[in-house]
Amino acid sequence: KVYTMVDQETCISCGACGASAPDLFDYNDEGLSYFIGDNNEGNTPIDEELLEDLEDAIDGCPTDSIKKSSEAFHGDPANEH
Ligand code: F3S
Repeated sequence: KVYTMVDQETCISCGACGASAPDLFDYNDEGLSYFIGDNNEGNTPIDEELLEDLEDAIDGCPTDSIKKSSEAFHGDPANEH
């Protein structure tokens, strides 16, 4: 399984992730990106058909704020495995 979430401490609201992966990422009132699947907790595996979009978003983020893991994040972007 593949999990993702955004590190909102480093996101600079550049907007690239929502463009490459509109089904995965949206922006909150402050313009910070979050994982749509579970309000950025990173505990819900993504649909496999969105894997390519996720890779594009990871590659396109200038601050490496899009995290990806084979285990649930439990809301902490440091839980990257
Ligand atoms: Fe933020 Fe990176 Fe997206 S800076 S808006 S997480 S592309």
